[in-house]
Amino acid sequence: MHTHSLKIGVLIGSVRAGRFADTVADWFVSEARQREDMEVHVIDLAEPALVDELGLSFDRSGDRSGDRSGDRSGDRGRDRVGDRGGDGGGDLPRLAQRIDGLDGFVVVTPEYNHGYPASLKLAIDSVHSEWRAKPVGFVSYGGMAGGQRAVEQLRQVFAELHAVTVRDTVSFHMAWERFDERGRPQDPEGVGKAASVLLDQLAWWGLTLREGRAVRPYEG
Ligand SMILES: Cc1cc2nc3c(=O)[nH]c(=O)nc-3n(C[C@H](O)[C@H](O)[C@H](O)COP(=O)(O)O)c2cc1C
Repeated sequence: MHTHSLKIGVLIGSVRAGRFADTVADWFVSEARQREDMEVHVIDLAEPALVDELGLSFDRSGDRSGDRSGDRSGDRGRDRVGDRGGDGGGDLPRLAQRIDGLDGFVVVTPEYNHGYPASLKLAIDSVHSEWRAKPVGFVSYGGMAGGQRAVEQLRQVFAELHAVTVRDTVSFHMAWERFDERGRPQDPEGVGKAASVLLDQLAWWGLTLREGRAVRPYEG
C-alpha cells in the first residue's frame, strides 16, 4: 500500500434481513482491495453502531415477504445483516467522522420501487460538509434496471452535498443470476473490467480533489 494511498469508503446501503448486498459488496471490496493505490474501508449501514446512531430499525427475523428478488443469500447461510461488523464493530467513531477521514466513496445500492433505500438517505443526510468536494461512485443491483434508477437519484442527492459523482458504474441486472452459489460473478472478466474503470475514475477524482482541497479549501 502506498503511503499516499487514497482512502476509499465502500458504503453498503441495504439493511434488509436476507439482503443480497453482501454478495455484491463482498465481490466489489475484494476487487478494490487488489489495488495498490487505495485503502478500502467498509461502512455497512447494518453495523450495530450505525443502526443505533442513525435510528435504523429493521426486521432481523429474516421474514422476506415482499422480496421480489428471488434473493438466495439467506438460503445459503449468508444472512449476516447486523453482524458483519464493517471495519471493526461497535466502537467506531460516528459516521460523519468516518466520512471525514476518507477521500472518496463507492455506494453499493439496490433499487427498491424505482428508488434507493431509505437507510441510505438517512445516512447521507446525517453527514454534511464531510462529503464536500469528494468523489462518489456506484455499484448497483436489482431487477431489470440493475439499480440504475437508484443511482440516478443518488446523483442528484450528492450534487446537493457538493460531492462529485463519477460517470461509470458497475450494475447488476437480475443480480441474483449474476453470481454463483459461492458468491462469485458469472462473468468475472466483464464485471472486473467495469469495476476497474469505476475505480480508475474514482482514483483520478479522489487524488485531484484531495490535492485541490489541500491547496485551496473548498468554499462552495
Ligand atoms: C420492496 C422492494 C422493492 C423492489 N423494487 C424494485 C424495483 O423497483 N426495481 C428493481 O429492479 N428491483 C426491485 N426490487 C428487487 C431488489 O432490487 C432486489 O431484491 C435486491 O436484491 C434488493 O437488495 P437487498 O437484497 O440487498 O436489500 C425490489 C425489492 C424489494 C424488497
